[in-house]
Amino acid sequence: MAAQKIKTAILISGRGSNMMALVEAAQLETYPAEIVGVISNRPGAAGLEKAQALNVPTAIIDHKDYETRESFEQALHKQLISVNAELVCCAGFMRVLTPWFVSNWKGRLLNIHPSLLPKYKGLKTHQRAIEAGDTETGCSVHWVTEDLDAGAVILQDSVQIMPDDTADLLAARLLPVELSLYPQALSKVASQMQTMLNP
Ligand code: GAR
Repeated sequence: MAAQKIKTAILISGRGSNMMALVEAAQLETYPAEIVGVISNRPGAAGLEKAQALNVPTAIIDHKDYETRESFEQALHKQLISVNAELVCCAGFMRVLTPWFVSNWKGRLLNIHPSLLPKYKGLKTHQRAIEAGDTETGCSVHWVTEDLDAGAVILQDSVQIMPDDTADLLAARLLPVELSLYPQALSKVASQMQTMLNP
């Protein structure tokens, strides 16, 4: 009997191209994860419609509806439980998560970050790489831990920085690399989980 696919939820805040890459990869019969839901903290996130068009269940948990970060995260947590998520992929999810949330999902929470971590944690990664005179940058899929963008890297890939690059040009050149890397990283993690659950 084929191993059970690992139920995976995706957190987004915007465009959703990484989310779509994961959804499309998971349509393959042999992919070890299935996408059980997409949750956005922004009601207007373009990714929501893209997910709906592929019949992926979506939910909006708008952080502005909650007085505290903790109450927002409790609602997020409840939604993840309600779709039976075993793994959670942050994909352009632009909220910093508290230690409470992270500890609840430790070892089951991934993120994609547009830099070669440990370089350039946080925001404006491309601008900072250009200003530093770096000749390459990249993206990292990593485990989420209590410290921002500091968890162990699962997979990383790089692109060259050209002399005339702007942050926008660099982001556009990196995007296809991200869209290839994240599905590979989720596949790796979900396969490992399948082996652990069914040795
Ligand atoms: C991606 O480039 C991702 O690496 C970045 O946001 C973009 C989301 O695009 N993530 C971060 O900066 C996290 N700190 P997408 O919504 O089209 O996938």
